[in-house]
Amino acid sequence: MKLRQLKLGEKILFGIVGLICVFAVLSFIGLEIYRARLDHPMYPVTSTYDFTPEGRHGSEVFRDSGCTSCHRAMRNGTNQGVDLDGIGSKRSPEYLKAFLRQPEATYETKTMDHGPSKGAAYVAGLPEADLNAIVVFLSQLKAVQGSADARLPVPERSGFVDAMVKMWAPSSWKADRHDLREESAPK
Ligand code: HEC
Repeated sequence: MKLRQLKLGEKILFGIVGLICVFAVLSFIGLEIYRARLDHPMYPVTSTYDFTPEGRHGSEVFRDSGCTSCHRAMRNGTNQGVDLDGIGSKRSPEYLKAFLRQPEATYETKTMDHGPSKGAAYVAGLPEADLNAIVVFLSQLKAVQGSADARLPVPERSGFVDAMVKMWAPSSWKADRHDLREESAPK
């Protein structure tokens, strides 16, 4: 069988797709070379991992208890579940303990995996000493205020956000909710 000559339109189309592929490969190689030569991380590091000896012990219990099959912490674990980096800046130790023992009663909404007869139901039945060690570990996973993993936003007020809140937030919200930014404002 003789190969049919490409039409002009086809040549242009394949040419453009080919150029895009070449461009993507070259950009990737360039970026990797740039990254390898940097002496600091390419993105700012906003999670801290300062552990007391109890916290370090808790991180081992966390791993040995199968938590990393759904969670990510300290850049370890799976990417599919909830990222627990910074959880210590969002939740108090009391909350964490209550959540691990009684997830349904503690979580704001229905749970997907914690809670009776679900994938992480076993967590509520772990020995007291293990849960306590895990809580210490989790509360030491802190995040810089204003970063994606932190509970509080940056301390500076943004005129844009103020305008958006004024325009879009129903006034009924003001009665039964509170504005996180008031907690984070410099005193
Ligand atoms: C089968 C998957 C799975 C396993 C195993 C698992 N988790 Fe979770 N975890 C989740 C999911 C999903 C959520 C979000 C809440 C929900 O829907 O259950 C969550 C939420 C959490 C939260 C956040 C609670 C909050 O209110 O912000 C903590 C803390 C947590 N898990 C700790 C643990 C610990 C500690 C272990 C191991 C002892 C563990 N998880 C094992 C799936 C899992």
